[in-house]
Amino acid sequence: MNVLDEIRRRRTFAIISHPDAGKTTITEKLLLYGHQIQEAGTVKGKKSGRHATSDWMEMEKERGISVTSSVMQFPYADKVVNLLDTPGHADFSEDTYRVLTAVDAALMVIDTAKGVEERTIKLMEVCRLRDTPILTFMNKLDREVRDPIEVMDEVESVLQIKCAPVTWPIGMGKNFKGVYNLLTDTTVLYKSGLGHTIQDVREIKGLDNPELDAAVGAYAAELRDMLELVQGASHEFDLDEFLAGRLTPVFFGTALGNFGVDHMLDGLVQWAPEPQPRAAVERSVTATEPKFTGFVFKIQANMDPKHRDRVAFLRICSGRYEKGIKLKQCRTGKDIRLADALTFLAGERENIEEAFAGDIIGLHNHGTIQIGDTFTEGEMLQFTGIPHFAPELFRRVVLRDPLKSKQLQKGLTQLAEEGAVQVFFPLRNNDVILGAVGTLQFDVVAHRLKHEYQVECAYDVINVATARWVEAASERELEKFREKAHDNLAMDGAGHLTYLAPTRVNLQLAQERHPDIKFRETREI
Ligand code: G4P
Repeated sequence: MNVLDEIRRRRTFAIISHPDAGKTTITEKLLLYGHQIQEAGTVKGKKSGRHATSDWMEMEKERGISVTSSVMQFPYADKVVNLLDTPGHADFSEDTYRVLTAVDAALMVIDTAKGVEERTIKLMEVCRLRDTPILTFMNKLDREVRDPIEVMDEVESVLQIKCAPVTWPIGMGKNFKGVYNLLTDTTVLYKSGLGHTIQDVREIKGLDNPELDAAVGAYAAELRDMLELVQGASHEFDLDEFLAGRLTPVFFGTALGNFGVDHMLDGLVQWAPEPQPRAAVERSVTATEPKFTGFVFKIQANMDPKHRDRVAFLRICSGRYEKGIKLKQCRTGKDIRLADALTFLAGERENIEEAFAGDIIGLHNHGTIQIGDTFTEGEMLQFTGIPHFAPELFRRVVLRDPLKSKQLQKGLTQLAEEGAVQVFFPLRNNDVILGAVGTLQFDVVAHRLKHEYQVECAYDVINVATARWVEAASERELEKFREKAHDNLAMDGAGHLTYLAPTRVNLQLAQERHPDIKFRETREI
């Protein structure tokens, strides 16, 4: 297969959902369809203590949350699917945002018993920034759920996206009979208790087929009536509207019962876009350009305790990776030869020979790669849109063993680099201040410092309310500001000057007093 065909058959997406909607369960079924696992059930519910193939940290096992994002690739139909896992807990929004910059489509999973939940709303906002096409899976139909029409209406009104049901459920809970596919005019019947396998399903062609009445009894007549209502209350599937992020195809099913997930996956490979163009400061880069380009959207330390290394996740934006390729790291201008990039099959890392635009590859990182770094075959490029968010919570690090300050420095630099937390070094003293978007990040960092770097630390509350990255039109202006605001300034982990404001009022005053200085809430790389 030639390079262009390889690129065009890539489908790269992430799952967005509220915790507990079923993301982990769906991920597992997707791996089943991708033949990456033989039988589902290896991914257990979190309460039972075992963890999903996509969760690999001890922390995740202990707390039942997904702390880091992972990447998985699997073939399906004639496509190659790249699934990027998004951290499940609301606290890890920063990491999630960056993952969403690396995908071309997203699958929204909704717990149909609950409807649209808070975290899904936030994640949809992020997807909307780039008009990412969204598919929707309404999960848990094997339970007593809310009226599907009502939930669909809620998606339309709360998330401001048109719904086009592709399938429609027949019954629910104990009486869940299956779904009717509006596009193919086929009913697919559900059998319970087969969630761990790919099932042989029975299909009945035609809504008026008497076989349907024989199979589902009175539900057949109900379905016929219901569909008229549904068609009146919703939209027809329209590919252009979907690709523009304005309409979402909706599928119903149960991830636990492994029913309907394949309908969604079929929709995904058929309709989700091939690798999309990416904006760089200099120009827009098309995926099918012959030369390799890509950017790092995530760094993860100590992914595998056996390897104890750091891996930078790079989204290939154009061209092809080939073992031994010579690449330029545009931020530093350095050339490197890459011979050991990794790919992620069901969480297993493997060295790869080649990869294509749309794929995610892992680069071994010895501290020289940062989030946002662009790699090319020589052209100077800087991909845009990978954000760092101003933290809202701050703690001063207290080291239990003062002799370990070197390890602390190293651990924090690495954890900051991977985006687990932000670290600030005030200009006026030797404090080490951590900044986070959510409180759980502090626990994760303390845990990881202890287990991965053998440093025990505690935190003090500190009088910082918010942080802003500062910039000025000229070096001279910045220097002047540096003198005046010295006591409130710090360097962040990547060496950027940051203003730490004790109160919001203080920040406001500083902004008024220094109109020539830009106080940035996000630092876009
Ligand atoms: P998440 O990654 O989005 O947080 O959700 P996850 O897949 O872990 O699912 C959350 C809970 O919902 C799990 O139950 C899971 O078994 C259940 N679940 C997922 N899909 C379905 C479905 O289609 N139907 C039903 N009835 N339940 C579903 P748990 O209680 O946390 O785990 P367990 O101990 O029951 O295994």
